[in-house]
Amino acid sequence: MEDKVIIITGGAGFIGTNFVRMISKNALDSKIIVIDLLTYAGNIENIKDLIDSKKIIFIQCDISNTQKIFDIFDQYNPEYIINFAAESHVDRSILDSRKFIETNVLGTQTLLEAARRNWTVDNGFKDDVMYLQVSTDEVYGSIEKGYFTEKNPLDPHSPYSASKASADLLVKSYFDTYGFPAVITRCSNNYGPYQFPEKLIPLIINNIVSGKKLPVYGDGKNIRDWIHVSDHCNAIIDILNKSNSGETYNIGSNTEWNNIDLVRLIIKVVRAEMEKNDGFQKYSKFSPNEITENLIEFVKDRPGHDKRYAIDSTKIMEVIGWKPKIFFEKGLRDTVHWYLSNQQWVKKIVSGEYKKYYKQMYERREVLK
Ligand code: NAD
Ligand code: TYD
Repeated sequence: MEDKVIIITGGAGFIGTNFVRMISKNALDSKIIVIDLLTYAGNIENIKDLIDSKKIIFIQCDISNTQKIFDIFDQYNPEYIINFAAESHVDRSILDSRKFIETNVLGTQTLLEAARRNWTVDNGFKDDVMYLQVSTDEVYGSIEKGYFTEKNPLDPHSPYSASKASADLLVKSYFDTYGFPAVITRCSNNYGPYQFPEKLIPLIINNIVSGKKLPVYGDGKNIRDWIHVSDHCNAIIDILNKSNSGETYNIGSNTEWNNIDLVRLIIKVVRAEMEKNDGFQKYSKFSPNEITENLIEFVKDRPGHDKRYAIDSTKIMEVIGWKPKIFFEKGLRDTVHWYLSNQQWVKKIVSGEYKKYYKQMYERREVLK
């Protein structure tokens, strides 16, 4: 990643922010250009210090805007493109799937076409260029037992995962048709700093702090494999440095939790952090001894709720030599600590649009006995 021009899309969102912050420290002689539309999920504050100190160039732009994207590619001639930009939340895709197709499918097609145009030379493509599509394990669908490998067929169920699977197939088609230099990564559920509090872990932390019940969908027995966002970001850097074109890699950490056990663990960790640090209590509606499992509320299940996600990450470990480093309980404690220490960041995000979303998603949701 040295001495390169790197375009990162979605760099003001959760994983994009962590990635941009990581590589702006490591790839010092590279030029980093962040493209982000700044939807509800994008937050310029996350990377403002890097923009102000000129470590990165920021461009507010929709990745499906062909003319603007072509112009950006003509101006900067990027060598690496890492596409994080997406509509990323399953529940929102169930409410309205349109934007998911526009951004996740058309946006990907626009970036692929811009890169193909920019990278084409007489005998194929420029040397040392790569497009990396950041995808998800959700494209494989749900699995009761065992693990999906990269060879499993795609079987997405939510509009979100269907749009991500469509994008993966488009990327593959560019490799198969044109020999276009691209790789795809499929990671499991990420957690860590800067995650928007509509996703399970930050939502539960934020609800505890703001004195709300903790909504668990259905019976709480659905299973996810959790990986710390910095392990995901390191995997992407290793792949860019070492992978051949045309490959797909699963990125997971074999850390399966069912939702109800995870919510119970978060309750314990938040309570312990509050007890340890008086400073955190001033933000909280509950005193530490009120932070108990009594706050949990089982609510009507998500339609089409995938039971279990589980992937086999042998390929990236053997071919690339990557492995996850962060032990879940430690990563979760650090994440809770980050959220409690960054209440201004959270409070800004949960005002405005988030309030409307929360009301629509949870206020009239049936509570199960
Ligand atoms: P996020 O929702 O936090 O961030 C998405 C970012 O994309 C935001 O900054 C948003 O402003 C931007 N964006 C949205 N539409 C855009 C458009 N049309 N043009 C330009 N920018 C646009 O998402 P995230 O959790 O950081 O996920 C990043 C990527 O990783 C996504 O592609 C997602 O599918 C994938 N992924 C996420 C997870 C996870 O657990 N969060 C797991 C595996 C893969
Ligand atoms: P989420 O963070 O939305 O990620 P994904 O659906 O992409 O895996 O949800 C993680 C799990 O938590 C999923 O099984 C749904 C469940 N969940 C709840 O039980 N309650 C909630 O309020 C949310 C947001 C999710």
